[in-house]
Amino acid sequence: MIMLKIMFGRAVSKWPFLLCSVTEQMEIAKSKATGELLNWEDTQKMRYSWNVACEVMRLAPPLEGAFREAFDDFIFAGFSIPKGWKLYWNANSTHRNPECFPDPEKFDPSRFDGAGPAPYTFVPFGGGPRMCPGKEYARLEILVFMHNLVKRFKWEKLLPNEKIIVDPMPIPAKGLPVCLQHHKR
Ligand code: HEM
Repeated sequence: MIMLKIMFGRAVSKWPFLLCSVTEQMEIAKSKATGELLNWEDTQKMRYSWNVACEVMRLAPPLEGAFREAFDDFIFAGFSIPKGWKLYWNANSTHRNPECFPDPEKFDPSRFDGAGPAPYTFVPFGGGPRMCPGKEYARLEILVFMHNLVKRFKWEKLLPNEKIIVDPMPIPAKGLPVCLQHHKR
């Protein structure tokens, strides 16, 4: 735990929001006996970590968007859309709309505090009847990954300014090489 605190000390002074996420994960780790696995209740306590993950998905949605077909003629934002047209909705532009997310380029997980963004403004998993059925599974997987990474490892990015490329999903241009070191117990 001491190692963990040192590791995050520097990062937290730069990005204070990390403190809440790390504290949350450390509290959960402390409540477990050696070798005891996470359970559903633990993941329900990872609220701030999920806010961080959501803010990452807002700025870099894993899926840029998806297609729909117009069932009827309609007008959207002054554009006439005829029945039968194929439409592409885009998560990236929705997530960067300043009317929905003030100061949209700023990384700020507190946007997801409380009730969070208005319906259909945060759409990494889509929306409506075809919304991603894997959403809850993905949430679980992301939180368990975050917990184990924070709890077990000290890590360092080897390419601090590595770019993200979209091909068609956002991925680190060089595969995100990191140096992982197991915490001493
Ligand atoms: C971070 C992880 C994930 C993201 C961001 C994501 C995102 C999405 C999005 C945007 C759609 C299109 C929704 C729409 O058209 O409204 C979708 C569809 C879908 N996703 Fe995911 N997904 C994720 C993980 C998963 C997982 C883990 C599974 C399965 C275990 C899954 C299964 C599916 C399936 C089957 C569809 C098609 C649903 C349909 O067309 O009715 N996804 N996903």
